[in-house]
Amino acid sequence: MSPAIVAIDGPAGAGKSTVARQLARRLGFSMIDTGAIYRSVALAARRAGVGWDDDEGLRKLLDKGLPISFVAEPEERVLLNGEDVTQAIRTPEISRGASVVSARPVVRGKLLGLQRSLGLQASKGAVLEGRDIGTVVFPEATVKFFLTASDDARAQRRHAEFSEKGLDVPLQEVLGDQRRRDQHDRERAIAPLRAAPDAIVIDTTGLDLAEVVERSHRLALERLSQASSIKGKLQR
Ligand code: DC
Repeated sequence: MSPAIVAIDGPAGAGKSTVARQLARRLGFSMIDTGAIYRSVALAARRAGVGWDDDEGLRKLLDKGLPISFVAEPEERVLLNGEDVTQAIRTPEISRGASVVSARPVVRGKLLGLQRSLGLQASKGAVLEGRDIGTVVFPEATVKFFLTASDDARAQRRHAEFSEKGLDVPLQEVLGDQRRRDQHDRERAIAPLRAAPDAIVIDTTGLDLAEVVERSHRLALERLSQASSIKGKLQR
């Protein structure tokens, strides 16, 4: 039986990572942060001296395969070629690079199969978070959420995350970078950031993310049990 897929899309800072992580934990599903995959491409390109908009260079880089893996325990880690790049992919520079490489059709095409296979390899189910999970990567996902929040609320969350990690990035810079990235993600020709027509949209402005986790958990359980009872009836 194929694993159940939960898609969580939305702009940066809307609470996707927190909600995806906690929802996955509650459901006993794997969590796949697809933004980390685009970030790893940006980092790998930078290290290989390949421009973020150099399609030919990116193609060659990805043809070798992107040796990325996710570790869930004892804490979440992203490994690239066996090296722990969890921190290195979170800098403002790599955020900009991820936004650029993610608009290149060659990169999206190469990463589509990787994201689908990571989801389908999950034993029970997977929560995937990104920008186009419900629209492109898993249009057949059983549950789709689209999280949004005001620009200010999102920038403040990102700013707090940076501060927790000891990165001193001024709020105005976070806001400016976020606006440019949002515009780029929404206006790109391929897989632009948008809610799938059947996504449950949650505006998290002013909401405690614990509340959003509660709500999305309840909704996910409802949808997952509806889907499994429909599947059961069809199989009978
Ligand atoms: O979620 P994030 O900030 O880690 O994402 C980094 C970049 O990757 C962001 O600019 C959007 C892009 N991205 C994407 O285009 N599609 C995805 N499924 C996930 C991320």
